[in-house]
Amino acid sequence: MPMRIERDLHMAIGDGETSYTRNSKIQEKAMVQIKPVLGEAIREVYTSLLPRTIVVADLGCSSGPNTLGFVSEAIGIIAHHCKELGLPHDHPQIQFLLNDLPGNDFNNLFMLVEQFNKSRAKSQNDEARLPHYICGLPGSYYTRLFPCQSVHLFHSLFCLQWRSQAPEGIMATRKTCLDKGDIYITKTMSPSIVKLFQQQFQKDFSLFLKLRYKELVFDGQMILTFIGRKHEDVYSGESNHLYGLLAQSLQSMVDKGLLKKERLESFYLPMYSPSVGEVVAIVEQSGLFNMNVKLFELDWDPYDDSESDVVQNSTKSGVNVAKCL
Ligand SMILES: C[S@@+](CC[C@H](N)C(=O)[O-])C[C@H]1O[C@@H](n2cnc3c(N)ncnc32)[C@H](O)[C@@H]1O
Repeated sequence: MPMRIERDLHMAIGDGETSYTRNSKIQEKAMVQIKPVLGEAIREVYTSLLPRTIVVADLGCSSGPNTLGFVSEAIGIIAHHCKELGLPHDHPQIQFLLNDLPGNDFNNLFMLVEQFNKSRAKSQNDEARLPHYICGLPGSYYTRLFPCQSVHLFHSLFCLQWRSQAPEGIMATRKTCLDKGDIYITKTMSPSIVKLFQQQFQKDFSLFLKLRYKELVFDGQMILTFIGRKHEDVYSGESNHLYGLLAQSLQSMVDKGLLKKERLESFYLPMYSPSVGEVVAIVEQSGLFNMNVKLFELDWDPYDDSESDVVQNSTKSGVNVAKCL
């Protein structure tokens, strides 16, 4: 049966050793990088609109601690900003809408929300008393999710590299190619297949912008953080390298008879890591948003905090990166 993202895609469920919950440190590190941008965006939205209820949507929230880290950060920023504005007792209410695909482990997420609410209820902190309401929203962000002009701030962390489907028409094009074990762009991949990956990104991202434009209030903001590549050359980039390693692992499973060859040959990762130039071109073409772009790099081993590119313990780092993948 062909893969359907909306039905089949989800991060590893539960809170066991290989779960997403226990293996989302790299996303947590990305969150640290965007904190100043988040602070600025929330302050700007709040100051210009002064809403009684501020509506914040996290798109692709998954079922790990990061989404609650984001919720907590947003509450803290709003509480602090109200104090700065001299409105310590006139807080807005905050509505958080946590969105992901229907296959997401919402049960695990709701348990984390429960723990989060309990710990805030016990806290003596002023900001913990800020009235906030959290709910889950299953559905693809490549469809309409919210009423017109109803959301003040969209946030999405480590999600928009996911496509709505494997590149359209890819299986027909693959039939004409020699190398059938690729699952993502590789150095030897035919340009016609690479182009299909690029076109799928253009189609998905333009649609995403159109949909969010309708849902965002006038003067609202979006903070979108996703995996891209540093250079324009589509054959470069760490995603190519990492998914190439994943393809090799799958191929070795085929060689050992653990996976059917036809299954590997009928699979492509529904992902694409664009360059800054590609992102800018689509946003400009849409004519819907003004934009600031910030590029930052993270080590693929989230437990490697050194500044250098030298790997101290390659076995340990290999395990960390594999778990993250
Ligand atoms: C790597 S996780 C990031 C989760 C979370 N934001 C974090 O930082 O820990 C990517 C999430 O995007 C979700 N996702 C992918 N495509 C989606 C779509 N079309 N609509 C909604 N969520 C999607 C996946 O299900 C997954 O939970």
